[in-house]
Order: sequence, then structure tokens, then C-alpha cells
Amino acid sequence: MTSTILIVDDTPTNLDVISETLSDAGFKVAIATSGERALQQIDRRPPDLILLDVMMPGIDGFETCQRIKATPYQDIPVIFMTALSDTDSKVRALELGAVDYITKPFQEREVLARVKTHLQLRQLTQNLARQVAQKATELQASQLQLIQHEKMSALGQLVAGVAHEINNPLGFVSNNVFTTQRGLQDLLEHLQLYQSHAPAEEIEAHADEIDLDFLLADLPKTLEAMQVGCDRIESLSKSLRTFSRSDSDQPTAFNLHEGIDSTLLILKHRLKANQHRPEIEVVCNYGELPPVRCYAGQLNQVFMNILANAIDAIEVRDATHPGRIEIYTCSNGDTIEIRIQDNGIGMSELVKQKVFEHLFTTKEVGKGTGLGMTIAHQIIVEKHQGSIAINSAPGQGTEFILNIPCSI
Ligand SMILES: Nc1ncnc2c1ncn2[C@@H]1O[C@H](COP(=O)(O)OP(=O)(O)OP(=O)(O)O)[C@@H](O)[C@H]1O
Ligand SMILES: [Mg+2]
Repeated sequence: MTSTILIVDDTPTNLDVISETLSDAGFKVAIATSGERALQQIDRRPPDLILLDVMMPGIDGFETCQRIKATPYQDIPVIFMTALSDTDSKVRALELGAVDYITKPFQEREVLARVKTHLQLRQLTQNLARQVAQKATELQASQLQLIQHEKMSALGQLVAGVAHEINNPLGFVSNNVFTTQRGLQDLLEHLQLYQSHAPAEEIEAHADEIDLDFLLADLPKTLEAMQVGCDRIESLSKSLRTFSRSDSDQPTAFNLHEGIDSTLLILKHRLKANQHRPEIEVVCNYGELPPVRCYAGQLNQVFMNILANAIDAIEVRDATHPGRIEIYTCSNGDTIEIRIQDNGIGMSELVKQKVFEHLFTTKEVGKGTGLGMTIAHQIIVEKHQGSIAINSAPGQGTEFILNIPCSI
């Protein structure tokens, strides 16, 4: 591509000589006869290089250069053309950010050589800057991925929560197994009495001894409790599997409600009442949803991040305000809408603007890393071509609205 050189000079003869030299060498030439005109022209059509005379009526070359350096065009190389051969002017020119200077009267070959050199330098600098920027983007992406992995390993912590949840029903079952075994033992003894044709009084005495009536009423209940315990363990482990579904490279059909439910179950230990606040109520208003082709494990991570933030936002409110999270889902033709609402502290305008920013957090050190929503944004917007919107105001709670295409 042909480079454009802007020549700024108030002397027609100078302009003629240089523009001819440059045109002959194949450059496009633009001309300005004063500093002010040059500034306007640069703004309209930025050149690739500027040749700038020092002595001009109106603003002189130094002033013009200074103003150029204060605009977005500050990277365009400026070469001063000056009759002044004194060192001060040269130093001043370079200090103002000029890349070079040429002293009048011109040697055509020198002008050309310098112009070419600086154009080449600029090209190289631009390429380098592009490469650096690209590397920086790549680095940030891989860093984010690394952190995402780390976040997933925080899953280990969640699993500990779930293991704790599993302890309850498990304790339940093993206690009941113990009771059942003892009851069964008694019943067997009692049956043996029948078998050995014992006298009625002896059977009755034994029935009293083992409290037969209670045993007969209680055993089915004990077994039922064991069944409940088993069911709970089963659903927990199923949720755990649903939640941490290994992410294949291919999107798979996924029931989003299952994803949300399994995330809620995993967060159950955080929703329960504790010494600081009552239990957080969760209300699910699910619509009819088709299966969604998506990266299931990643969407679960999004639900996890949003719900964990909602719990955090509720916890920093005063405890007399009962926490509540509401989840709505509906299908809008080609997309699924999921709204997750909390009645926590809400967000100021500033926080709302920065939520998705890398490393933005309002939480104390060790509590928040400021990555949850950056990752959520990346997963929903970049990975699934969906969108996330926020409704929130301080003291009013927060609503995240996700739109996810049914298929990617
Ligand atoms: N539901 C919410 N209510 C109020 N503020 C919120 C809510 N969700 C997010 N925020 C604000 O957005 C900030 C960024 O959230 P993000 O999840 O990205 O980071 P974090 O929760 O601080 O740390 P982590 O990386 O552990 O998730 C939070 O620090 C908080 O100020
Ligand atoms: Mg978070």
C-alpha cells in the first residue's frame, strides 16, 4: 500500500521541491501551509508520516508537533525540516517527540532515505505492537482457563459439603439397620417359640419381653426410614454426577433444570440456617424447557457462580431480613431464558458496570477473587452465544437474566 506523507510548510518553493521528490519516489503527498491546517488535515485523513517546517506564521512547528502528540495520532512519525542548524532546535525537536530532523537546504536523496527509514521503522513498530497485543490476549485467555480449572478444583470443597450432606442420611440408614437387626433377632426368637410349641403363657411372656406390638408397628417404619435415607443418598450422588459431568469437547443435550437442581443440592449446606441467619428459601418456577445442546458442565459452573454470589449478597444483609432466591425459567422459541433473583444487598451503578470485569470484587481478600462472573460471562456469551443482563439496585436485590440458545 502506498504511504501518504503530509508536508507542512508555508514556503511554496519548499513544498514544490519536496512533494515532487516524494511523488517521484511513489509516495502519496498531502500538503498543509500552516500548523492549524495540518492539525485539521491529520484529523480528517491521518497520514503515515509528517514532514514539519519549524518556522511558520501562526503556530510554529514546535507547537504543532506538541499538539499532534496530544491527539490519538501521536504515533505518526514527525520529521522536522529546519533551516536552523543550531543544536538547541534539534534537541527541542527530538524532545517534543520528533523522530528525526532534516536541515535545509535539502538533499533530495537524504530526504527520501530518512522518510523511507522512518516509514519502515513505524511499520515494524506497528507489527510488533500487534504481536504483543495478540500475545497478551492469548495469555489472558489461557490464564482465564487456568483459573477456571482452579475454580473447578474448588469443587473439591463443594464435594466436601456434599459428603457432609451424605453423612446425615447415611447415619440414618446405619442406625436403623442396627435397630432392625435387633428387632429381627427378637422376632426370630419369638417364631422359634411357636415352632417349639411352647405354652401360650411362655409365648405371651416373651412377647411382653420383646414388646412385640411396638416391634410389629415399628419395623415397617424403620425400613421406610432406611428407604428414604437410601433415596436421599442416591439423589445426592446423582446430583454430584450431573453437576460435575465431565466436559466433552462436543456440546451435548442437557436438561437445564437438572443442572440447576443439582447445583442447588450441592449448595444446600450453604442455604441452611446457621448461627448468623435463618435458612435461605429457594423458590423454583420452572417452565417447560426442551433439552438444550450445550456444554453442560460449564453451564453448571455458571449457575454455581451466580447462586454463590446470591448467597453472599444475602449474607451481608442483616439477619432479620429472611433470604430468598427465586429462579424462573421459560423457553422463548430458539432461546431459553433463566432468571435468578435474590433479595441480597443489590449493586450500585458502579458495581453493576464492573461485575464482569476480570478480578473485580467487592469482597474481602480470601473471600472473593473477582472471577466468578468473568467466567460466567465467557461461558454464556462467548462459548454459547447467549447473553447476561442484570437488574439491580442497592438494597433492592439482584436479578441475573440469562438467555441461552437452544442449540450451539
Ligand atoms: N447477586 C449479587 N448481589 C450483589 N452483588 C453481586 C452479586 N453478584 C455479583 N456481585 C458483585 O459483583 C462482584 C463480582 O462478582 P464475581 O462473582 O465475579 O466475583 P466474587 O464473587 O467477588 O469472587 P469469586 O471469584 O469468588 O466469585 C462481587 O464482588 C459483588 O460485588
Ligand atoms: Mg462470585
